[in-house]
Amino acid sequence: MSGLDGGDYMITLGLENKDAEMIRDGWDIAKKKIKLIRSMILDILYHSKDRTLDRKSVNVFDFIQELVTTMAPRMKEHGIALVQDTPKPNSDAAVWIDKTVFFAALLAIFENAVDACVAVKGVREKLEIKISVELKDKETLFKIRDNGKGLARKYQKEVFSLFYSDKGNKGTGLGLFIAQRSVKQHKGVIKINSIPGQYTEFTVAIPVLPV
Ligand SMILES: Nc1ncnc2c1ncn2[C@@H]1O[C@H](COP(=O)(O)OP(=O)(O)OP(=O)(O)O)[C@@H](O)[C@H]1O
Ligand SMILES: [Mg+2]
Repeated sequence: MSGLDGGDYMITLGLENKDAEMIRDGWDIAKKKIKLIRSMILDILYHSKDRTLDRKSVNVFDFIQELVTTMAPRMKEHGIALVQDTPKPNSDAAVWIDKTVFFAALLAIFENAVDACVAVKGVREKLEIKISVELKDKETLFKIRDNGKGLARKYQKEVFSLFYSDKGNKGTGLGLFIAQRSVKQHKGVIKINSIPGQYTEFTVAIPVLPV
C-alpha cells in the first residue's frame, strides 16, 4: 500500500506547487497501485467462497497457447526466451479441469517465473522459461522452469502461505496461496525443485481425465 501513499504525496505536492509533471507521475503510481489492489480484492472474493469446480475436458494445446499468449508481452519486455515442450497443435491431449480456476494457478506460477528472471536481469546472460507438459497414465504434469534467482529449500513450504512475499510492495503474497488451493481442488499437488542462483522448477500434477 505504500505506493498509494507515495502517489498521494506526490499529487498533493504537485497541486500545491502547480507542478503538472509531478501530479502526472504521482497519479501514475497511484493508478498502478489501485490496479493491484483491485485485482487483490477480486482474487480474495472469488476464491474465498469455496465454489465447486465446473470441470470440463480442455484441450491441452489450446490451454497452453492461452497461457503463453497471456505472458508473452511481459516476457518480450524483459527479453526472456520461451522454450516449449508441450502437445502439438493437432494433438487431442486433454485435461479434466475447471479452466478458470486452473488457469489462474498456472498463471500465478508463470508470473513468478518471470519475476525470478527479472530479478537476475543483467547478471544472467540468457533468461529463459521452459514450459512442458508430460502426459502420463494416471496424471498430467505441468512444469514451469525458470533460470532466475532460485528459491532456497527453507522457503519452499512457506511460499504457499497467505501473504508470504519477498517482493516488498510489488507483491501481495496471494499468488501461490491461491494456486495451491486451485490445484488441491483438482486433487493435484505442486512440487518445487530449485538450486538457488540457478533455476526453479514448479511441477503441477493433476489426475487425468476420468474414463
Ligand atoms: N520461480 C520462483 N523463483 C524464485 N522465488 C519464487 C518463485 N516463485 C515464487 N517465489 C517466491 O515465493 C514468494 C511467494 O510467491 P507468490 O506468488 O505467492 O507472491 P508474490 O509473487 O510475492 O506476490 P503476488 O501475490 O503478487 O503474486 C515470492 O515472493 C518469491 O519469494
Ligand atoms: Mg506471484
